[in-house]
Amino acid sequence: MNTAFAKHIKLTGFALVLLAASLSGCRVEREPNYEWLPWLNYMFFSSAAETNTANTVFKNKLTNQVPPAGTIPRGFTPLHFTADDAGRTAAGEQLVNPFKPDEDTLKRGKVVFTTFCTPCHGTTGAGDGPVSKRGMPGFPIGAADNNAGKWPDGYLFHIVTYGRGVMPSYASQIKQEDRWKAILYLRTLQQSAKAAPTP
Ligand code: HEC
Repeated sequence: MNTAFAKHIKLTGFALVLLAASLSGCRVEREPNYEWLPWLNYMFFSSAAETNTANTVFKNKLTNQVPPAGTIPRGFTPLHFTADDAGRTAAGEQLVNPFKPDEDTLKRGKVVFTTFCTPCHGTTGAGDGPVSKRGMPGFPIGAADNNAGKWPDGYLFHIVTYGRGVMPSYASQIKQEDRWKAILYLRTLQQSAKAAPTP
């Protein structure tokens, strides 16, 4: 047998043994009382701690730990703007929409816009949602020559995030990425409104 081939067989055999070992674990299921490599079995018998129970591992004896100061959730961008005109302007200048208006993004943006914005602003953003019809001003935002059509994405993101005047903040209801997607969907409304012939 040539040596390269023998080496190949050996390596393959070794890989198969490793694979078998990893698949079977270290306990023989057919013989539950028999433990193979018991010192490796701690994973089978570890006790899972419930979130709000006492715990002896941590100093404060709680399982549910407060994240260290300054920790931010993965994928979350902390915002540092003030909730006023200056903050809106700064957000308009500094924030860039991280998404492109591709099919998936616009599909999601439409869901978000329809759910959260149409009650006041209407399905086309014309300001004629059911809430507006009952007396709350429903600012038109759905045309390119509306203010909202001229302001940059970051400015609109600020309005949705912090609220403005009677419009409440949607920060706790719409996650950041969905806010950006709703804005891209609003842009498509504004583009089609622009393209429509004026009566
Ligand atoms: C509860 C009703 C309501 C909902 C829902 C709502 N808005 Fe508003 N929106 C308003 C009102 C009222 C104003 C005017 C605020 C003011 O007084 O400055 C406004 C203003 C705006 C403006 C600025 C318009 C301008 O020309 O000044 C934008 C942009 C906007 N909203 C976008 C949105 C988006 C996007 C959503 C969905 C995420 C949304 N709004 C959801 C009521 C609402």
